[in-house]
Amino acid sequence: MADREYRTLKVEREDGVTFLYFNRPEKRNAMNPTLLAEMVDALDWLETDPDTQILVLTGAGDAFTAGMDLKEYFRELDDQPEARLKALWNLRMFHHTRLAGFAKVTIAMVNGWCFGGGFSPLVSCDLAIAAEEAQFGLSEVNWGIIPGGFVSKDVVHALSYRHAFWYALTGETFDGKRAAEIGLVNLAVPRAELRARTLEVARHLMQISPMVLRATKEALRVVPQLGWDEAFDYLMAKQAWLRANDPERSRDRGIRQFIDEKKYRPGLGPQPREG
Ligand code: COA
Repeated sequence: MADREYRTLKVEREDGVTFLYFNRPEKRNAMNPTLLAEMVDALDWLETDPDTQILVLTGAGDAFTAGMDLKEYFRELDDQPEARLKALWNLRMFHHTRLAGFAKVTIAMVNGWCFGGGFSPLVSCDLAIAAEEAQFGLSEVNWGIIPGGFVSKDVVHALSYRHAFWYALTGETFDGKRAAEIGLVNLAVPRAELRARTLEVARHLMQISPMVLRATKEALRVVPQLGWDEAFDYLMAKQAWLRANDPERSRDRGIRQFIDEKKYRPGLGPQPREG
C-alpha cells in the first residue's frame, strides 16, 4: 500500500525503520494545528503498518521542532474556540496517546533546535539520540507562558527535580552533549553520525521479538502510576499476557537455547530469533 501524503510531515523508509519527519523546515518545524492533526493520523497508520518495525521521529532541515507555533497555534487560535479545542485534542492525542502509547519502539532523533512544546514528543519517545550540535530550551518563560500541554509533566518525569526547575525557570539553552549528561537523551553524537548511529540502535532492537519489546515498554510506562502491590500484580498479568501472545515464544526459546542447547547467554547480545 502506498505511503500517505501529508502537508507538514514526511515519511522515509530504510529496512524496517520508518523515519517520520516534522516537515516545516521554513518554520523550523513549529507545530501548527495541521501538523498536530496529521501526526495523529500518521501514528495511527504506522502503528499497524507491517513495514514499520521501529519508528524514528525527527525533523527536516536544521530543527527537530521549534515547539508550538506561536502564530498559528497560540495567537490565531485565541479567538477561535472550536479550532482551539480541536488543536488541543490533537495535541493530547499526538503526544500522550498515539506517541507515548505507540505499540512499537520509538526513537527521537534530535537533529537540531528543540524548544518548548518539542520536549513532549521528545520525552514521549522511548529512546532519544541527539546531535551534539542540537540546541534545547524550555523557552516558555520568555514568552510569558508556562511549560504547558504536557511539557511540565514531561520534564519533571524525564529530568531530575533540580534540572527540571533550572531549565524551566531560566529558559537557558543547552546542547546535545548537556542533554545526554542530564539524561534527557540517551546519547549525543556528532550530527554527521546521527542517522547511522540511530540506525545501529534500531537494528539491534529489530533482533528482539517485537511482542517482547511492546510488553516491556508498556510495563515501563504503566508501573510509575501504580503502587507497589498493584505494580506486582500488573507485571505478573503482563508476563502471562506476553507468554500467551508472543508468536515467537521467545521465553521458551531462550530457556531452551540456554539450558538445553547451551548456545546462548545474555552477554552474547540479543537472543537469536528462529524462523
Ligand atoms: N512558532 C512560529 N513560528 C516559528 C517558530 C515558532 N515556535 N519558530 C520559528 N518560527 C518561524 C519564524 O517566525 C520564521 O518565520 P518567517 O520566515 O515567516 O519570518 C521562521 O520560522 C524561521 O525562524 P528564524 O527565527 O528566522 O530561524 P533561525 O534559524 O534564525 O532560529 C530558532 C531558529 C528555533 C532559534 C528561532 O526560530 C526561535 O527561537 N524560535 C522560537 C522557539 C521557541 O521559543 N519555541 C517555543 C514556543 S512555546
